[in-house]
This record gives sequence, structure tokens and C-alpha cells, in this order.
Amino acid sequence: MLARVRGLVISCALVVASASAAEAAPKMVKGPYLQDLAPTSITVMWQLDEQVPGKLIVEGPGGNREIDVPADRIVEARIDNLEPSSRYRYRVVVGDATWDGEFATAPPIGKDVPFSFIVVGDSRDGIEQHRRVVERMSQEVPDFILGTGDMVDEGFRQDQWQQFFDVENATLRDNVYFPALGNHDRQGRGRTADSYRSYFSVPENGGETERYYAFTYASARFLVLDSNEYSFALTDQTAWLERELAAARDDATIRHIFVVMHHPPFSISLHGGALDLRERWTPLFEKYQVTTVFSGHDHVYERAEHNGLRYFVTGGGGAPLYPRRPHPNPVDVEAVKKFERTLHYLRVNVTGNHIEVTAIRADGTTIESTAWTDGPAEAPAPAGPVVASVPGAGAPSIKAAPVAAPPPGETTRSLGWLVGGGIVLALGAAVVVVRTMRQ
Ligand SMILES: [Fe+2]
Repeated sequence: MLARVRGLVISCALVVASASAAEAAPKMVKGPYLQDLAPTSITVMWQLDEQVPGKLIVEGPGGNREIDVPADRIVEARIDNLEPSSRYRYRVVVGDATWDGEFATAPPIGKDVPFSFIVVGDSRDGIEQHRRVVERMSQEVPDFILGTGDMVDEGFRQDQWQQFFDVENATLRDNVYFPALGNHDRQGRGRTADSYRSYFSVPENGGETERYYAFTYASARFLVLDSNEYSFALTDQTAWLERELAAARDDATIRHIFVVMHHPPFSISLHGGALDLRERWTPLFEKYQVTTVFSGHDHVYERAEHNGLRYFVTGGGGAPLYPRRPHPNPVDVEAVKKFERTLHYLRVNVTGNHIEVTAIRADGTTIESTAWTDGPAEAPAPAGPVVASVPGAGAPSIKAAPVAAPPPGETTRSLGWLVGGGIVLALGAAVVVVRTMRQ
């Protein structure tokens, strides 16, 4: 997996060279980027500056595939029939131009394997600050990335969405991103999520399509909620939430439940804890003993504890940082155990029942690392260390590869991986659905 980090930089340079060589080729505006990771499927999305057809070539276990992709404003190409816990490489081909990426599919549902993920949010329109956070994040090798919302400052501003993807492009080419809907990501009088929905493809298992959803990775269930004012008051999402929590707790293969939503129930920063959330959802989190809750909205790092549950605020993704609230609610004061006004992200390691959340500043230094045991039964000890972390400025964290290593002699991704290799393209080997995007 270390090769994957190095290859990311090399790949970017080669992609530019490849694209520039084709004068008539359309320009890649966004992506390609990865969405909706599952054990046997994933979605690749991209946007060109003109609507032209292309191809998606996938190389990995189960055979190589070439998929015809029709023209669309934003392409959303789902690939099915993949092998779990396996590494694949993909190439988007449009005319003479190509763009490469790679991904690893999720483990089988319920398989108790170590994994890690990043949580980051609130980039909004802080472009250079956002870039600093993402550059530090690029030294990580997570299994996926969770967003706590407010990716842009104004949801109707397509130029801001473009800025978001410009900064994230190299990262999201090889890392699956699961977004939560922030209040600034919405648009119009109806506070719709039109742009958010057009740019992201998430599991469509929520009551209101794609504004909230759930997915399972290994032995953990993730509930990504829409905590905006016009949503969390709706009983349908609350009913859905409780059904999901109950189902996860009844499922013997699910060890952990992680909740992600934009607004924090507890905070001593500018916005403070959301009282409605404390009344409506926090009791459910306690009843079903969720592992932890990740939020954003306040542009700081906070760790809180309330009635035995841990809550993290991670809103340091690039937006202007917030101060402490002059007169915070006493409940928030009692709950918040750690506060820092800084650009940062979270790295979460899950090993059996062991949870470790490390908050990392944009300069690479560690704010703090919090670890605890979640659930009643301990998992079998892993074969080796999951993470070898080196605290201190600029020190990268390198995780052991969860999937098979590249073939001998291959240390980075290369544009030559599909050329001259006698590759057999198994047309139709995958079920591919290219859906027309909702406007
Ligand atoms: Fe917000």
C-alpha cells in the first residue's frame, strides 16, 4: 500500500502528460473519483467539459473488463461482480486521453478484520487551508474517507464545487469518499441537496434518497445522517435511524456502529451543541450504544463524553476556524473534554474491539489519540500491528496492506499497465450500470 501513495503523485504527472498530448481530447473537469464502496461493487464518477462517450477499463481479480460508457453530464459508472478484499486498477478512456486510478474492495460483510478510515469536514471556501489538510491526508492510506459536511460555502455555487474537487482530485481518485450533507451544501429556498446529489453516489437505503444512508464495512455499520434543520425534525429519518440501530444491534456480525452527521450534539465553539439533536437522537445513540459520533459544523476539534458515549467534532478541513463560545451551555461545558482551534482531520483505526481515534493537525503533529474498547467480546488478536505511527511533524502513518501486493517488480502505478500486456478484455464480465444523473 505504500506503493499506492507514491504512485499517486507519479500518476498525476503522467495523466497530465497523457491528456495534453491529445489536442482534441475533452478536458476532465472532475475526477475520476470513487464512490459507494462495497465488498463486490464500487462506483466510478467523472465529469468532462463536454458530453462524450468513453470507456472504463478495470483490471484485477476475476478478469479484465472494458465497459462502454455513454455520454452524460456527470458519469456515474457502477461496477459489480468484483471480488471482496481485492485490489483493482481502473482507467477512464476518452478519445486519446486516459485517467488512471485504483481501489480495494471492502471485506466480506461481518468479517472481523482491522481497518482504518479518515474523518474530515468543513472545507467550505478555504481553498488553501483545505489544500494543506488534504496534502497531509495524502500521506495516509485509509480504507475510505468520511466527510462531515460543508464541502462548499454555497451549495448552488458550481465554481465552489469545482474548487472542492480541484483540491480533492488526486485523493479521491484512489480513495472512496462517503459524504454527509452540511447546511452549506444545500441550495435554494427549499434547501435542496441537488448539487450534492448530482456529484455523489451513496447507498440508496435512506428514507430520503441519498440525504442519509447506511453502509457496512467489515464488522462495522456506518450511519450517515442528515442533521439539517429541515430533516432531523422529520420523524421518518428518526424512525429509520432507530430501525437501523436496532437491526445493527441484532446482527451478530456487527461489532461497531459509527454515526456521522454534520451538526454536533455537544460543542463549546461558536454554534454550540444542537439541542434538538440532544433531545431526539442522542437518547437513541445511548439506547443502542453506538461506538461514537462524528460531526463537523463548528470549525474546531472537540472530543466530548456524555452518558458514557464519545462524540468528536472535526470541522477543521479548511473553513475559517472558530473560537470558543463566550457563554457555552453548561451541558456542553460538562461534556467537552478536549478543544483545539486548528486545521486537522481524524484517523480512526478499528482492530477487533479496539477503537483508536487520532486527531492530526495539518502540519502532521498529533492533537491527541483516544483509544477504548467497544462492545462486550474481544476479537481475536490480529496477526501483526495494524498501524505503525510515528508521532511528530510530518511523520506519515503507513498501514499494512489489506489486500494482495502488486505483482513482482511493480512498485508504482504506471500508465503502461494496460498497454502491450496481452490483456484479455472480458466484455460483459461485470454488470455495469451507468445511470443518468439527477439534476
Ligand atoms: Fe455547517
